[in-house]
Amino acid sequence: DAADIEKGTYPHYMLKEIDEQPAVLRKIIQAHRGPDGGLWLEEDTLRAITEADRLYIIAAGTSYHAGLVGKEYFEKFAGIPAEVHISSEFGYNMPILSERPLFIFISQSGETADSRQVLVKVKEMGHPSVTLTNVSGSTLSRESDHTVLLHAGPEIAVASTKAYTAQIAVLSILAACVAGTKGKSIGFDLIQELGIAANAAETVIDRKEDMEAVAFEFLQLSRNAFFIGRGIDYHVSLEGALKLKEISYIQAEGFAGGELKHGTIALIEEGTPVFALATQPELSANIRGNVKEVTARGAHACLLSMDGTAEESDRIVIPAVHPLLTPLVSVIPLQLISYYASLHRGCDVDQPRNLAKSVTVE
Ligand code: G6P
Repeated sequence: DAADIEKGTYPHYMLKEIDEQPAVLRKIIQAHRGPDGGLWLEEDTLRAITEADRLYIIAAGTSYHAGLVGKEYFEKFAGIPAEVHISSEFGYNMPILSERPLFIFISQSGETADSRQVLVKVKEMGHPSVTLTNVSGSTLSRESDHTVLLHAGPEIAVASTKAYTAQIAVLSILAACVAGTKGKSIGFDLIQELGIAANAAETVIDRKEDMEAVAFEFLQLSRNAFFIGRGIDYHVSLEGALKLKEISYIQAEGFAGGELKHGTIALIEEGTPVFALATQPELSANIRGNVKEVTARGAHACLLSMDGTAEESDRIVIPAVHPLLTPLVSVIPLQLISYYASLHRGCDVDQPRNLAKSVTVE
C-alpha cells in the first residue's frame, strides 16, 4: 500500500529498505510456517522442485548473487545438484541439461528481459519453472509454472538490499522443504535459526554509526576497493562489491581469497581498502592468512567476522548465526558501508547514474 512506499523520515529509500530487513525476514518465516508450526511450501511448487534431478538457477545482478547462495542450500540441504547462471549468458551458452531439469528464476521485479528470454526458451523446450519474485503478477511470475513470493514489500532504491536477503531466506526455506519431502534432515531448526538471523540483522542495523565510521575511514579517499571471502563469504563479497560500485562509483571487485595470489594481489598498494569476510569457522584461518598477505603489501584491511570466530582486532563482528545463514547478516554492514560511502561522496544514493531498477531491454 501507499504507506509502504513512503520514505517517511528516512533521507533515502535505500536506508529505509536496509532497516526493513529484520521485519522482512520475520514476515517470510510467518508466510512459510505451516499449521503444525513446521515449514510450509505450496504443494505443487514443492513437488515440481522435488521431482527435478538438477536445478538451473537463472538471474541477473543482485538476484544472481542470491542464487549463488541458494545453490549451496539445494545441494547441502536437499542433495539436489544446482547450477547458477547469469541470464544474459544462458541463452546462447546453454549447458547440457539433465533429464529432469527445473528452472528457478530469481528476480526482484519479475521483469528483467534477459531472464524472461531464458524463460521463453525453456518453456518452448517443455521444461518446468519456478519464479521467486517480489512482485506478484509480474511477467516472470505470470509466465512461469509456479511463483514463490519474496514478501519484501516495494523496493524503490535502485541498489537492491532487502530483496537480496529475502531471496536468500526464501531459497533456504525452499531447499529445506525439499529436503523434508525427501526424508532428509538438514540438521537444525531452520525456523528458529532464521529468527536468530533476524535478531542478528537488527543488532547490525543498530550499529549504523560504526558502519558510517568504517565508510569514512576506509573509502573516503579511495579509487578502488576489494572484497574477499571463501565459501559462502565469497558469494557475499561479490554482492558487497556490486553495492559499492553501483552507488559510490568506487571501482570494486569481489573475489575468492584463494585467487588473490593468482593475479589480484598485484593491485594492492599502500592504503588499498580490502574488506575481508571471515564468518565461516572452518575457513577463518585461511582468509586471515589472506589478510596478512595484503596488509604486508600495504593494504588497509577491514575484517568482518562473527561472534565465536572473532579476534580482538576485527573491525566488524556480527552476532553468531548458523554458518549457512551468515549472508543474511554479513551483507548488512556492506550495504551500510556502501550507503555511507555514497552519501559522503555526494552521490545520488537512490538513483545512481546509468542504472535502472529493472532492465526490460536485452
Ligand atoms: C537491475 C537492478 C539490479 C538488479 C538487477 C536484476 O540491474 O539495478 O539491482 O539486481 O536488475 O533485477 P531483478 O528485478 O531481475 O532482480
